[in-house]
Amino acid sequence: MKRTHHCNELRPAHIGRNATLSGWVHSRRDLGGLIFIDIRDREGRTQTVFDPSDLPKELFDRAAALRSECVVSVSGPVRTRPPGSNNPKIPTGEIEIAATSLEVLNMAAVLPFPVDDPEVAKTVNEELRLQYRYLDLRRPEMVRNLRLRSKVATASRVYFDAQGFLDVETPTLFKSTPEGAREFLVPSRMHPGKFYALPQSPQQFKQILMVGGVEKYFQMARCYRDEDLRADRQPEFTQIDLEMSFIEREDIYTLIEGLLKQIWKTALDRDIPTPFPRLSFQEALNRYGIDKPDTRYGLELADFTGEFRASAFKIFSGAIAAGGVIKVLNAKGLADATQGQIETMTEYAKSLGAKGLAYIKVEKGEWKSPIVRFFSEAEKAALAQRLKIEEGDLILFAADQWLTACEILGKIRGYCADVLKSSGKLIIDPNRFDFLWVVDFPLLALDKEQNRWYSSHHPFTAPVAEDIPLLSTDPKKVRGQHYDIVVNGVELGGGSIRIHQPELQKLVFEQVLQIPPEMVQARFGYLLEAFRYGAPPHGGIALGFDRLIAILCGAPSIRDVIAFPKTAKGADLMTDSPAGVEARQLRDLYLEVKVAKKD
Ligand code: AMO
Ligand code: AMP
Repeated sequence: MKRTHHCNELRPAHIGRNATLSGWVHSRRDLGGLIFIDIRDREGRTQTVFDPSDLPKELFDRAAALRSECVVSVSGPVRTRPPGSNNPKIPTGEIEIAATSLEVLNMAAVLPFPVDDPEVAKTVNEELRLQYRYLDLRRPEMVRNLRLRSKVATASRVYFDAQGFLDVETPTLFKSTPEGAREFLVPSRMHPGKFYALPQSPQQFKQILMVGGVEKYFQMARCYRDEDLRADRQPEFTQIDLEMSFIEREDIYTLIEGLLKQIWKTALDRDIPTPFPRLSFQEALNRYGIDKPDTRYGLELADFTGEFRASAFKIFSGAIAAGGVIKVLNAKGLADATQGQIETMTEYAKSLGAKGLAYIKVEKGEWKSPIVRFFSEAEKAALAQRLKIEEGDLILFAADQWLTACEILGKIRGYCADVLKSSGKLIIDPNRFDFLWVVDFPLLALDKEQNRWYSSHHPFTAPVAEDIPLLSTDPKKVRGQHYDIVVNGVELGGGSIRIHQPELQKLVFEQVLQIPPEMVQARFGYLLEAFRYGAPPHGGIALGFDRLIAILCGAPSIRDVIAFPKTAKGADLMTDSPAGVEARQLRDLYLEVKVAKKD
């Protein structure tokens, strides 16, 4: 019995024709002597009816023995449903198949969880879903996510092809060259004691492709990072990765805006306005306290350093005298925060390095606060006026060095938004997408513990040309030609214009990042060598493909848009990986395993 239609195809126009459907038993109901079986495939479902008065007993009994998720083929004429029994919720809801034959292609064991009810599915423990991922994937929501993922991958390939990009695969057996995250190592059998590393991204290969004259490269690239996992991070993930020669930052902005426009049109039939707004790193931190702001709501931070410079409140004036700032957040509508919530916020702020979290609650016309008695009338008036303070407000303060103060209040801003959302005081339209570019990042950040500079993006990022002289005099002032694309508070991607001059790259490695010359040679020697033979100016970007799809699907975690994701502990529960190996395999690799306890 060969299928003639899929399970979302038959309509009243097919009535009277014979059809054969193949799929899974979605549900079975026994009503008034009849058996109703909904058959489901990837596309949808269709009702079939088994009537004992029309069928041989043997066939009817086979239908009666079916249970959920058995695999079957059913044939019979398409007919209209009896009056009153239409199902307007499904597109095939006006018809049914009067079964005349049934082939059972496979039986199914009793399921560990039901897959036919979306409400029940939501309550199933995720670990169980991951262990039986093949059942989970049968749920329409998962099918929709994978379908959208496939569509967006195709749309991206079509877009880049039309723009003249070559899809080039780069190795996934690479070598260890720390780019930031910890790496996965692969021991070599042919080179005892040596290791490949899985690439964190194709960064160096794509730059070498530019030296190789490819000019426009793109790839749906698999990347591997051994980091602590969260909802938006996996140990292996996919990037839409690209690189171009003879370009400037503006070219990347235009290219990516065009790509995202096309993707939103393809996936959601939405026209997103371009160009996207741009925010400098400085402004993003000043206004939102984070370099990937969610601009779908206000709650912007204000700066009151000027007003509190000579304050009698020593915590504030002292912080300013030590070179710090006073950042303030008016969390409108949160004056009813309980003492417990304020303590949670304070502890959260402290866990981020804050010395405290001063606050004012505006309730019944009064400013309730442990600190307000130290404020002068002028200070209070300035707060009231600039923050437009009114009944119901909760004012929060951070006094610290600029970056710390901004970052602390940025996190508190996010926390306040979550509290406001859960109480229904802040409602964000799920169809709203706030894209923006964050630009003018500092090239370097300081590792306070080790007292040395590290690259805020990666060491291949070019400094802004006019800032190059500052590399040796005032590194923290050097801006990088780096850009991030952000949507709804998620860092979707990042990239930069690269260094293409071997001398400048060597200077950054050795003098700025203080990597010993032998190590630079061992790790990056081939790149510096390549740059000596005519490297074109180049730059690029990588978008997190899983994050992109999660945003389009409205999924809370990228695990929901990856067919076989790992758990937060990096395990694959279905295949039970990672797993031990045979002693013989280790011997072949010249390895011995001693599991030592970390101290
Ligand atoms: P970066 O490290 O910023 O840049 O990565 C680019 C984008 O990849 C996504 N991403 C991840 N997605 C899922 N799980 C992870 N563990 C994970 N880590 C990163 C994010 C991120 O914005 N080679 C450079 C790009 C370049 O300079 O062209 C790079 O990899 O969405
Ligand atoms: P204390 O005198 O240490 O009890 O602090 C008085 C209030 O100021 C408390 O609410 C603290 O949380 C707050 N506070 C202390 N240090 C800071 C700081 N650096 N920034 C903001 N608030 C602070």
